Amino acid sequence: MSFHPETSTLANPEPSQAGQRGSLSVTDCSTVRPRALDLFCCAGGAGMGLHRAGFDVHGVDIAPQPNYPFGFTQGDALAQDLSGYDFVWASPPCQHHSRMSGCREGLRDKYPSLIAATRAKLKAWGGPYIIENVVGAPLENPVMLCGAMFGLATYRHRIFESNVALTVPPHPKHSTPTSKAGHWKPGTLISVAGNCAPMSMAREAMGMDWTTRAELVEAIPPAFSLFLGRQIIQTLTPGQSNTYLANAEQQKEQRRPVHLPHV
Ligand SMILES: C[S@@+](CC[C@H](N)C(=O)[O-])C[C@H]1O[C@@H](n2cnc3c(N)ncnc32)[C@H](O)[C@@H]1O
Repeated sequence: MSFHPETSTLANPEPSQAGQRGSLSVTDCSTVRPRALDLFCCAGGAGMGLHRAGFDVHGVDIAPQPNYPFGFTQGDALAQDLSGYDFVWASPPCQHHSRMSGCREGLRDKYPSLIAATRAKLKAWGGPYIIENVVGAPLENPVMLCGAMFGLATYRHRIFESNVALTVPPHPKHSTPTSKAGHWKPGTLISVAGNCAPMSMAREAMGMDWTTRAELVEAIPPAFSLFLGRQIIQTLTPGQSNTYLANAEQQKEQRRPVHLPHV
């Protein structure tokens, strides 16, 4: 048995089998995908990258997410049962930590930070996790990704905390100016924030063609979670779903090569 990340770049793949937690999810007779829980999923920017990396993805959000492309549960992320998953991704709301919240008094307090509670839950669970947030958020030893690392037409910096050692590509110089959100000008990159326009360009820059504007500005480009999800998959042991070897030596001995798609 082995993990075969799929090569599809479909924006709207068939949803995974919701409600099948606790049993192996077999997508065809030869493929078993490790299971990822996508907490605070919104419309699935992160989820799509994990799907492309090879995970069977299930999302959780407190709000209804009719555009989420995979199995979905509406509910409080902090109340979810994590058993049966091989990996958990969490994107707690970033408003508390974003630069915009510093612009008006009291705005930060309107949005409580869920990062500490999320981290505590994930550490208590004990499996591999990634917490994603904006630059400036209190993540532990985060790595940073930028759209320029993936040739995207938007510089979108996000930081990622994990209990798995993650590598990142070199950070290219920002050689093209960025327009102010909602005021794109030719010759500049688009800022995917606020009232960003034109939407076709914003969607193209993010690599997400299935979302509304409100969902898009909340998202990370799937390229980010594809890149990191592949690294997580390398640490999982094929054939032993829901088995995470926390011991690094054991990981070295038991890790099997995984065939990854070229994108
Ligand atoms: C930054 S967005 C996530 C973006 C997503 N990772 C993506 O790439 O598309 C944060 C999401 O957290 C959700 N949220 C806020 N509080 C929540 C809670 N307690 N439980 C579950 N979801 C919550 C919001 O509804 C919002 O959709």
